[in-house]
Amino acid sequence: MKTTTFFLLCMWAVLTHSMSIKDAEKCSDDNCKIGDGCRCSSTKSPLDGDAPQLISLTFDEAVVNNIYTDVWEPLLFDRKNPDGNPISATFFVPHEYTDYRRVQDLYLRGFEIGVNSITKNSLAQYWLNATEEVLKEEFEGQRILMSHFANIPQDDIVGARTPQLQLDGDVSINAYVASGILYDSSWTSRSTTMMFPYTLDYLSIQECRTGTTCPKDSHQGFWVAPIINIQGNSTDGILECNSLNTCNFHGTADEISQWLLSQVERERSTTKAPITLMVPSSWFRFTENSFDGFKTFLDELGKLNDVFLVSLKQVIDWTKNPVPLSEFKTDVPDRTADCGAINCPLQNANGDLRYMMSCVPCPEVYPWLGNPLGQATITEKTTTSTEESTTSSTEEPTTTSEDF
Ligand SMILES: *[C@@H]1O[C@H](CO)[C@@H](O)[C@H](O)[C@H]1NC(C)=O
Ligand SMILES: *[C@@H]1O[C@H](CO)[C@@H](O)[C@H](O)[C@H]1NC(C)=O
Repeated sequence: MKTTTFFLLCMWAVLTHSMSIKDAEKCSDDNCKIGDGCRCSSTKSPLDGDAPQLISLTFDEAVVNNIYTDVWEPLLFDRKNPDGNPISATFFVPHEYTDYRRVQDLYLRGFEIGVNSITKNSLAQYWLNATEEVLKEEFEGQRILMSHFANIPQDDIVGARTPQLQLDGDVSINAYVASGILYDSSWTSRSTTMMFPYTLDYLSIQECRTGTTCPKDSHQGFWVAPIINIQGNSTDGILECNSLNTCNFHGTADEISQWLLSQVERERSTTKAPITLMVPSSWFRFTENSFDGFKTFLDELGKLNDVFLVSLKQVIDWTKNPVPLSEFKTDVPDRTADCGAINCPLQNANGDLRYMMSCVPCPEVYPWLGNPLGQATITEKTTTSTEESTTSSTEEPTTTSEDF
């Protein structure tokens, strides 16, 4: 009798535990195997031998036509990796101002398209406060929206980076998973702690920056592609920075190039942890010689036969199957898509006119949170519920003003 009760209690405990959300446990090579799609957070390379040095250039601003033609095209197109294939990079695309014809162009050229959000709300608090439901509307919504208006497959949109790198801990990861997102690239790591990509099956050892919330639950098979900080210019110790426009580095084109090469060298001469660079177009506009310096930097990298410019998706694929440099080859995706290039004049929620370049016929209303396809009927419903709601009205379309 006593044992039965005890047994039932145990069963109850087991059941309730497995039904509730699982706290992540400590990771070890015994319980987490790459063959099962699991990797512990670590600064140790998944490969003992000579690894390729992977570098991901990443962009998280609206894909607008002049940045495409003035910055990305001259910097990135017609550039090749040591294996002779075109380079790749990752674009985490927000909605407002984005030209979806150009999103498709980038996609067809072999670049990875990932998710930023629909609103790109400029208030950090918005992202720290957001519920899973709101975040799902932001991430899944943008995934649906981009896939539709750029006419590219949703299955190829698998990564995300949150605006201003504001992770909301488990809430964000749950929203990602519910949105079909497979990896995040928002979590920064100290320049001296060179983390490799890993999964969130077990507790992460990656330091949680002050002001952010980091995931604590177990999220099976969900990948984190850490952003290892670089070291900027400071007269007083090391300036940890990640986005190039926050590194306070100034100089001639050669000096800028040398500085960036020295940052690559910190990884390349040690563990060859993959490098993620955040390259905002504002840096090129406001920092003298930065465009020429960055171009020289890329030209110099092109001379190194162990350095590959790849998308973050490719970095994760390599981490899952870490082949040595001698066997490493980039894949060239075979992609086709049609684009009608239709200019859609639409009023956003603030009443401002936007010219949304679309590959498919124009939506009835401007696509937005809760209505990623811009359908007239859904909007009426959403507008009503927004007016009634007391919580979400404050952070409605506060878009960053980008002067394009
Ligand atoms: C964040 O949440 C707090 C507490 O619920 C609230 O007072 C604040 O207004 C919220 N901020 C934003 C920007 O949503
Ligand atoms: C570093 O920063 C200082 C102070 O802002 C500045 O005077 C100097 O020119 C900078 N050096 C480089 C290499 O950017």
